[in-house]
Amino acid sequence: MSKTIEIKKKIGYFKKKITVPGDKSLSIRWVLFASLANGTSKAKNLLMSEDVMAAIKAIQKLGIKVILKKNECTIFGKGIEGYKYKKNLTINAQNSGTLGRLILGLLINSTKPIKLVGDKSLSKRDFRRVSEPLRKFGAEYKLKNNNFLPLKMFGSSKLKPIRYYENRGSAQCKSSVIFAAMRTEGTTIIRAKKSRNHTELLCKYLKLPVKVKYNKGFDEIKVRKVKKISALNYEIPSDISSSAFFIVLTALSKNSELIIKNVNINPSRTGIITILKKMGVKIFFKNHKTYKGEKKADIKVVSTENIKAINCPTELNSGAIDEFLVIFLVAAKANGISNFKNLGELNQKESPRLKWAEKILTKIGVKTITTKDTIKIFGNPNLNVDSKKKIIINGYLKDHRVFMTSFIAALSFGGNWTIHDKDSINTSFPNFLKIIENLKK
Ligand code: S3P
Repeated sequence: MSKTIEIKKKIGYFKKKITVPGDKSLSIRWVLFASLANGTSKAKNLLMSEDVMAAIKAIQKLGIKVILKKNECTIFGKGIEGYKYKKNLTINAQNSGTLGRLILGLLINSTKPIKLVGDKSLSKRDFRRVSEPLRKFGAEYKLKNNNFLPLKMFGSSKLKPIRYYENRGSAQCKSSVIFAAMRTEGTTIIRAKKSRNHTELLCKYLKLPVKVKYNKGFDEIKVRKVKKISALNYEIPSDISSSAFFIVLTALSKNSELIIKNVNINPSRTGIITILKKMGVKIFFKNHKTYKGEKKADIKVVSTENIKAINCPTELNSGAIDEFLVIFLVAAKANGISNFKNLGELNQKESPRLKWAEKILTKIGVKTITTKDTIKIFGNPNLNVDSKKKIIINGYLKDHRVFMTSFIAALSFGGNWTIHDKDSINTSFPNFLKIIENLKK
């Protein structure tokens, strides 16, 4: 099968209801919590993607039994001290920063050394951001050039609690430290810049000794040692980050309307909704529900003719961090100049995304001015790419969001596109192309 895909035509109008797969952050966290639980946990609608499979393979290597059937998963936890594995274990986090970083915290008390490896993209990402705080608990880490995978971890059975100031707004760093603190006598105190709080909500639902005080701008989290985790049955809601591509596609298409069913709308993830609403996009939540501490709803989006430019408030950054690439496409069609600031973290993702935003927008004829942490986008409400203009997207380290953003740009603005490495979608959204086909019917 070809690994490239060609798109030569814009999408026509559509009026549909779709469902996107389960949330990736919640799926990985559920796998990790269930692996530590006493007894059998079941999840429905677990995201069946490479990142989540990497998490499942990791806990299997740690001696935990897993049964998978379609998108239902059963994990047979053996308690918080239940991992069993041989010396010189290697865990492969593949493309997943979330798995790679969270599992370091989870394994902090392991006295047998463990090697952590990842794919080409993950091996270029910063791991000092987690090894540094975890070292303070008393564990040791050997990283390639002090920063990168492969790394070797040397856990400790004599951990001491720490005080940690998380100032990047990284949920992966915060969650890694929470997992480590759950294995440590005494109280760890974390002061964390706002970021997605799925780990904290799961801890609350499981009644673990994790107390969170939500403040303006940062949260204070106190974690004590966990003795027991109950088995957890969970129905994973759909991923707002996967929904984002279809929200934007609908907003940019003519006479279209879309309902995306049962999406996780945790307020720490809905930055895209706030930003697009400020830009005039018509988005509504329907059928609000709360499920085990998480909020979910159906999202309705309608085509939008007059898109307004935005000076994006930086306090919305962390809640939209995975969606900026596709949000920039909306800014490309806005009436005026949009500004996005403090986005250095985008270059820490699966590929340097701020650079990729600039490349994609330049290819479709949109002017940008980019620095190491800002982007200015000169919108054009009449943006239309000549159907003969050849656009090739390649060498983006298989960053799934670069692939899908390019695809949405092709369907929204036109041009003659060839996008390489279509397998990249398998990390987070394996049926992305099928849903597109369904919209065209
Ligand atoms: C994630 C946190 C974010 C996000 C990533 C998933 C998580 O990363 O970009 O896709 O599940 O905790 P950072 O923690 O690096 O900001």
